[in-house]
Amino acid sequence: MCGIVGYIGGKNAQDFLISGLKRLEYRGYDSAGIVTLSEDGSATLLRAKGKISNLEEKLAKNKRDDKVGIGHTRWATHGEPSEKNAHPHQAGEIYLVHNGIIENYKELKQQLKEHEFKSETDSEVLAALINSFYKDGKHPLINAVVQALKLAKGTYGIAVVSKLSPDEIVVARSGSPLVIGVGHGETMIASDASALLGHTKQAIYLNDGEVAMIKKDSVEIKTLNAEPVSAKVEEIETNLSAIQKGGYDHFLLKEIMEQPDSLTETLRGRVNIEDGTVRLGGPGLSEGQLRKIKHLIIVGCGTAYHAGLLASYYIEKFTPEITVEPVIASEYRYRQSYIPEDSVALIVSQSGETADTLACLREIKKQGVTTIGIVNAIGSTIAREVDGGTYVHVGPEISVASTKAFTSQVIAMVMFGLTIAQAKGVRSSILKPYVNEIYNLPKMIHETLESVQDAIKNIANKYANYEHGIYLGRDTAYPTAMEGALKLKEISYVDANAYAFGELKHGPLALIDDRFFELALLPKGELYDKAVSNVQEVLARGGHVIAVTNEEKFDLPVDDIIRLNTGDIFAPILMNLVSQLFAYYVTVAKGYDVDQPRNLAKSVTVE
Ligand code: F6R
Repeated sequence: MCGIVGYIGGKNAQDFLISGLKRLEYRGYDSAGIVTLSEDGSATLLRAKGKISNLEEKLAKNKRDDKVGIGHTRWATHGEPSEKNAHPHQAGEIYLVHNGIIENYKELKQQLKEHEFKSETDSEVLAALINSFYKDGKHPLINAVVQALKLAKGTYGIAVVSKLSPDEIVVARSGSPLVIGVGHGETMIASDASALLGHTKQAIYLNDGEVAMIKKDSVEIKTLNAEPVSAKVEEIETNLSAIQKGGYDHFLLKEIMEQPDSLTETLRGRVNIEDGTVRLGGPGLSEGQLRKIKHLIIVGCGTAYHAGLLASYYIEKFTPEITVEPVIASEYRYRQSYIPEDSVALIVSQSGETADTLACLREIKKQGVTTIGIVNAIGSTIAREVDGGTYVHVGPEISVASTKAFTSQVIAMVMFGLTIAQAKGVRSSILKPYVNEIYNLPKMIHETLESVQDAIKNIANKYANYEHGIYLGRDTAYPTAMEGALKLKEISYVDANAYAFGELKHGPLALIDDRFFELALLPKGELYDKAVSNVQEVLARGGHVIAVTNEEKFDLPVDDIIRLNTGDIFAPILMNLVSQLFAYYVTVAKGYDVDQPRNLAKSVTVE
């Protein structure tokens, strides 16, 4: 949420900032801005509402060869998307970019009478506060930043430059990520390591409560209490190709289509097909600790929550004496829930930075519960704060809508459940079918994507003008329906909701008319016949049903049908591919921005 970049070195800072912002645009895209400083102390501030391309138009008329600067792409929290609310914000001689929320900005603003505020943002208040301590360069910039941050409540990742000291950038973080890229004679900063790719592979991840003074060939870090911190340089694992479209029209389609490979990465070294077991090293729990687990809490938001809900259905099926409680992080963090003894919490997050999920993690840890991360972004805050964890290793997800992460989150959690079941001595005849199908799932995903893509495109074109969608499923297909509905609404803006089939006649059946279509997920299995009866009830009321099934005997006179030729236990995962492609093609047919849907941003680092 909001992207930050910064550069100090020997190259053209404007070029670096613009290319870095383009890489981060998925984090927020309602306005953007950069400021660069020249050696003689003049500043060039450029800001524009909307996408980075608007900023580039301004840049074309204001080219400078400055070697230091900071930039920002915004997702609005305080104040509408506009040029005046775009960052960097100026106060006196300094400029600031900020990611996060300053909660006490109103109180602070009252005390900053000397500053003439030009925006409605909390970030400008922070800039003015820093400037009030800076006293036009009479104090070192870093000291002014520290003094201001001691008064600020909330979350921040910031970068600050001053016209009076154009050989340094000061950065700090509390709750919003900041990475420092170490190059040869140049240093860069970004809120996400992907902006640094192609420039350096060496990164320092700043921790909460740390502030750093960055020069072109040095990085000095200390805490807000002035204790020096020795910088740990880590290797960035992502490659440039992972953040490029690779011939696809959109990142979303690329990310849907790469699921056979991304899931293979999740499984690598973790499945032993010969003896039908799985092994996860990361959680770091002994057999004895696994055996003791009686209660699993699964915490996530949005798609990550749906992944947790789906995994909970599976884990309960094969693990005895265990209850699984999937929870929505933004709710759970404020509930007074009793956590039973012998609980373990799975903290699920693609970005590893989601504010609500992180807050839950911290609350749960305070209660002494072991926390295990199911995270994608390596080195992210959640990954660093959990007691143990399993990276899903799907590579960067650039499109705002989460797709490949979902599939791997579900399977990583099911594998964690399997390790508990193994430790509890569940018979291998019960567990082996799960392990076998997990092992074969990348291949099944590949076959499914190949076989359904064209049909789904045609069906999506047919339904693109419907106003409402109802997604239906039961058992494991119910969380899958929820995820499908979320995908459709977030990118195509079609109102879509999911219901458990059994709930239909308790209310939603009243909705059915020509403005609605119903997407029915019908995996083979125990509850198939019951779900089919529910479809009949919809058809009897004039519904427009698209059925997705792997049951050969399905023969209802629905409007459209997508047959899957594979999949058994994890058929809902394959059905979710159908929903992903359907949402994609509906959005393409409507001509909307697939990768950057309105009002949203990847990585929700504010509450
Ligand atoms: C939906 C989507 C969001 C995220 C949610 C959690 O497509 O992307 O619902 O799943 O914001 O994000 P992470 O997984 O980064 O914690």
